[in-house]
Amino acid sequence: MIARRVREARVYSEIVRHDISVDEVAARRPKGIILSGGPESVHAEWAPLLDPGIYELGVPILGICYGAQLLCAQLGGTVTRTGRGEYGRTPLRRAGSSPLFADWSPDAEADVWMSHADSITATPTGFVTTASTPDAPVAALEDSHRRILGVQFHPEVRHTHCGQELLERFLFDVCGARPSWTHTNIIESSVESVRAQVGGDRVLCALSGGVDSAVAAALVHRAVGDQLTCVFVDTGLMRTGEAEQVEETFRSQFHVDLVHVKAVDRFFGVLEGLTDPEAKRKAIGETFIRVFEEVARDVEDARFLVQGTLYPDVIESGTVDAANIKSHHNVGGLPKDMAFALVEPLRLLFKDEVRAVGEELGLPEEIVWRQPFPGPGLAVRIIGEVTAERAGILRAADGIVVEEIRRAGLYRELWQSFAVLPAVRTVGVMGDGRTYAYPIVIRAVTSDDAMTADWARLPYDLLERLSSRIINEVDGVNRVALDITSKPPGTIEWE
Ligand code: XMP
Repeated sequence: MIARRVREARVYSEIVRHDISVDEVAARRPKGIILSGGPESVHAEWAPLLDPGIYELGVPILGICYGAQLLCAQLGGTVTRTGRGEYGRTPLRRAGSSPLFADWSPDAEADVWMSHADSITATPTGFVTTASTPDAPVAALEDSHRRILGVQFHPEVRHTHCGQELLERFLFDVCGARPSWTHTNIIESSVESVRAQVGGDRVLCALSGGVDSAVAAALVHRAVGDQLTCVFVDTGLMRTGEAEQVEETFRSQFHVDLVHVKAVDRFFGVLEGLTDPEAKRKAIGETFIRVFEEVARDVEDARFLVQGTLYPDVIESGTVDAANIKSHHNVGGLPKDMAFALVEPLRLLFKDEVRAVGEELGLPEEIVWRQPFPGPGLAVRIIGEVTAERAGILRAADGIVVEEIRRAGLYRELWQSFAVLPAVRTVGVMGDGRTYAYPIVIRAVTSDDAMTADWARLPYDLLERLSSRIINEVDGVNRVALDITSKPPGTIEWE
């Protein structure tokens, strides 16, 4: 979150581990260093510490929460388990002046977000206290001579008054950074590094229809033009209009060399008779690999493979500096034994930056803002056997859900909104006749990161339109239900 806030201020930031050496830090020539918060106490045996040489580099440092306690403890101050922690919104009173508070109105108390058990009780030599709260006598401290500052509260949290401004004062006024990390610069530096990496060789990219692979492909195309070949495998399990959109955007608009593999029958063939979710996933993943391998063999001399890996994946896998192959979760896992070097033009970007870059590159809004979609596609939303007929029913119903959600202006604010086809049929009456057909379940969730999710409170009139359109327009459906399960205990997808 801190790294993202810094980037929102148009300053490039990277996350590194606390045990980085002073030499490694110096080699990166940072303009400033922020020490993040963390769940430990500086008194714990396993407390994460900083190479003390980092404090001597002359590079400005801002410690946040644990980071403030850490620099205090390592520079000779005192951090105490007072038993008077603070959690949540807390009034902060400033004492003296600090560049960090330049945007705050004078004298006034302001609310900040706290979450700490230990407290700083004595500042190190050379430091002054610049703010306090009822239970944290040292809520902000600094040594203006050495340009080392700390705040006990969390400026990166939106509930903190002027939190973003505080970070920006550190970045611009204390560190002297400039707001130069713009989308144009991101594109320029990615283009340069892709060119340097690839030289004159051929590059392959699997397009999934989603935003990450699309932006990665568009960036690489800008860098190396017709050295790029994109492969789009039509599995028959895509959303309405997705295959056409990829074709239109990449072939017609960007003039990319696009191989459109129509493998629909092959996928329905391997799915025949399968009902177990994992068996379905595996069959799709393996078929995808086989198809991709066959195409790759035909593209002679392709030495590089584009992956849409994002910075959060890089951070989570703990391999910031490694360039290992990571299975492509968007398109069902590409073969690990293929002899490709990876091109990952998005590996230092957050999702919102990827979207902004996509817009800047001229990708259509439908692609740039498309909701996440699982690698195995509609197959994990078709409970029981996946047939062409059942996929057709679901795709039609899903198309209506997306259309109506867009029309209601809710598409961007929902994390995902889609239709599910269960494996039961129910009795209904339409016209004068009895029907025995499938229900469609509507699933719409809000979420920040898909780790947890809440079911979306869709307006009743929207639900009514969805129900009546789906039943009237989709043959084989006679009932519509709404999934009101959060995650946990449910998952977002049904399989
Ligand atoms: P669940 O269903 O586990 O999904 O709550 C969390 C997020 O991941 C997506 N999802 C997948 N994405 N391959 C993917 O690339 C998959 O096999 C897969 N399964 C779930 C899901 O759409 C949601 O955004």
